[in-house]
Amino acid sequence: VRKLPVIDPEIAKAHTLPGWFYGDAGIFLQTAERVFAKTWQALPAEVAALGSGRALPLTLLPDFVDEPLVATRSESGERRLLSNVCTHRGNLVVLEGGACSSLRCGYHGRRFGLDGRCASMPEFEGVEGFPATSDDLMGFPVASLGGVDFTNLGGAISFDEWLGPIPERVEFMPLSEMRHDPSTSRTYTFDASWALYCDNYLEGFHIPFVHPELNRALSFRDYQIETFATGVLQVGTAAEGELAFEIPDRHPDAGRAIAAYYYWLFPNTMLNFYPWGLSLNVVEPISPTRTRVRFESWVIDPAKRETGAGAALDLVERQDEDVVVQVQRGVSSRAYDRGRYSPTQERGVHHFHRLLVEALR
Ligand code: FES
Ligand SMILES: [Fe+2]
Repeated sequence: VRKLPVIDPEIAKAHTLPGWFYGDAGIFLQTAERVFAKTWQALPAEVAALGSGRALPLTLLPDFVDEPLVATRSESGERRLLSNVCTHRGNLVVLEGGACSSLRCGYHGRRFGLDGRCASMPEFEGVEGFPATSDDLMGFPVASLGGVDFTNLGGAISFDEWLGPIPERVEFMPLSEMRHDPSTSRTYTFDASWALYCDNYLEGFHIPFVHPELNRALSFRDYQIETFATGVLQVGTAAEGELAFEIPDRHPDAGRAIAAYYYWLFPNTMLNFYPWGLSLNVVEPISPTRTRVRFESWVIDPAKRETGAGAALDLVERQDEDVVVQVQRGVSSRAYDRGRYSPTQERGVHHFHRLLVEALR
């Protein structure tokens, strides 16, 4: 096990994460337990859409954290996110989603309510203290921003703390009216570390070089980076005549032509707010050098979909992927060790590296 790198708190003195860090199997395993299993994670959109009297099995971060879960909604509409692991001898309880009034384990017939309560079990007469609460399916929290649901398997930080300044900053957007648009959901898989994908997301430095089309919609000169305890905000200012938010008076950004609020929340959630709505990107590690990114859209104003910084997201994603895959090869080279940060352009990357090393410690 190699020693964790130190990222100097002073950006002008700091060196970036070393190249080995991005492909290291030990770091990867620790990242699953110490980082992803302890932070808020977006749930698939099907969870929020689940009808009454139904159950839906899902895996949180397949191939990585790999936690078997089952989402339920009772006849009266109450939602739960439960462990899908039977408390008897550990079989998976729900294998296929559908309508049901209880959950029955297919191994020895233990039955649970849609609230996770252990209801009955064959051949258990005379077992002392049975059923106890430890025989119930474990429950996990569900919290929402607009229509997006999140859960947390075991972290200490509350959902509101994690969201930090986001709800207030985008308070003028009717988030509760956002509609999930499954037709625009996309999944991208590529050969690079999840952390390199985040590094790339966290700076607009590369926009003029890598994204010529996006660069025309943004005014690079006015690009702004703000860090906060759990994340980073990048504010993209619209180029002359390009689509921008209608921001009410008294808002801190009133009078500015803002094309996008790009929020990243530690470790792997990106909430991109555009005048048309929200593009959610969830970065899912598969192996140290393979990553899947899920794109989901929640739409407020579909007419604005094809203009400004929030248009052509697929093209921008492919440009980012190409460069990140190149960088994975580069940082794996014998000739590369560590880089330095631009104090004006790479404060977000620096903040991410600090948070990541801190969480792994
Ligand atoms: S493992 Fe579920 S009833 Fe035995
Ligand atoms: Fe990019």
